Amino acid sequence: MVEWTDFERATIKDIFSKIDYASVGQQALARCLVVYPWTQRYFGNFGNLYNAAAILGNPNVAAHGLTVMRGLEKAVKDLDNIKSTYAELTVKDLDNIKSTYAELSVLHSEKLHVDPDNFRLLADCITIVTASTLGASFSAEMQAALQKFLAVVVSALGKQYQ
Ligand code: HEM
Repeated sequence: MVEWTDFERATIKDIFSKIDYASVGQQALARCLVVYPWTQRYFGNFGNLYNAAAILGNPNVAAHGLTVMRGLEKAVKDLDNIKSTYAELTVKDLDNIKSTYAELSVLHSEKLHVDPDNFRLLADCITIVTASTLGASFSAEMQAALQKFLAVVVSALGKQYQ
């Protein structure tokens, strides 16, 4: 069994230490709401989501983007407990990380009724915004590590649906 490499652990921690949660969270959530407009239906109480400029300027979007990034930080802190391979992620890693996201998974499924396909869409927006924030220093290996990490989170958030 290949474990997460030291490079991956260090890279994920490094990425999260370099990015501004408020900025990346706001931009990623806004991008998700623009690119995948059906995701707006879950945020009916957020006010004006009329167009891309309104979404980017919406303070509720900004606040919630930050909340999502703080949610991700919990998993960054859990990284040292994640042991298995990417191929085995859905089987093994969830045992370690699922408790971190158990409550959030219940909230998103049973209370908010968020379609779990949307988790990956938001995760992809986080990758894109991180890439544009870090620019040329965001190497392919860094992207691979970040996407592996986000895949674990997405699986854990979807746990309640399985
Ligand atoms: C609430 C994290 C994806 C919709 C939350 C909260 C967190 C969170 C930490 C606050 C929970 C609380 O107040 O106790 C995440 C993470 C995601 C994710 C880490 C994936 C990377 C999504 C997606 C949607 C969504 C894709 C919908 C398309 C919501 C809604 C709320 C919420 C509607 C309640 C917002 C409010 O009224 O304040 N999420 N979420 N989430 N999430 Fe997510």
